[in-house]
Amino acid sequence: MVRQLEAVIFDLDGVITDSAHFHYLAWKQLAADIDIEIDEAFNETLKGISRMDSLDLILAKDGRENDFTLEQKEELAAKKNAHYVELLKDLSPADILPGIKPLLDAIRAANLKIALASVSKNAPMVLAALDLTDSFDYLADAAKITHSKPDPEIFLVAAAGLGVEPANAVGIEDAQAGVDAIKSAGMKAVGVGTGLVGTDELVSDTSKLTLAMIQKVFQI
Ligand code: G6P
Ligand code: MG
Repeated sequence: MVRQLEAVIFDLDGVITDSAHFHYLAWKQLAADIDIEIDEAFNETLKGISRMDSLDLILAKDGRENDFTLEQKEELAAKKNAHYVELLKDLSPADILPGIKPLLDAIRAANLKIALASVSKNAPMVLAALDLTDSFDYLADAAKITHSKPDPEIFLVAAAGLGVEPANAVGIEDAQAGVDAIKSAGMKAVGVGTGLVGTDELVSDTSKLTLAMIQKVFQI
């Protein structure tokens, strides 16, 4: 079968808006509460990773993985989330990263489909605050995902939800785990940021993302 570009599948945090930074601040505070220090470099390993898996990585960093019961871990994760949600309270369309709204509009105008592949359970709320819900044809439900990125599951669910073959989609990601997930899903990958490996195209920031570039990447 001839491959044809049918869909673009977006990560949320760090691609649509800079909520990745708020995840970092909330985890940094939570970690400090239990005497663990994390920095931005360590935070890179948390991007694209589910809430509970992120907590496990933070605890394992200092060999603390057996210090808490499951119930205590759930309390810690809930505390991090409460702080994260508080940091998002003023989120508005002004917080959409540069170039993203025109890109979404151009993809829609070209009759291509658009899905979200974020493992964040806050994703629907974040999109609503940005007034972008209607720009997406399908939101993969993080609550139903068994494996975080780098597993391809969320990207495969997003493609299936749109009714397109993974090979006919391009994924956009700012995290290494996300790029690995896109590639494992059998899609072309556009990376945003620096230091990402294995992308089909890497841009320094979202203002460099265009439909023409995505179409070119698809043909690689
Ligand atoms: C995304 C972010 C992660 C975050 C995860 C879960 O993958 O990149 O930093 O931990 O979503 O988010 P949630 O809002 O459900 O805690
Ligand atoms: Mg991200």
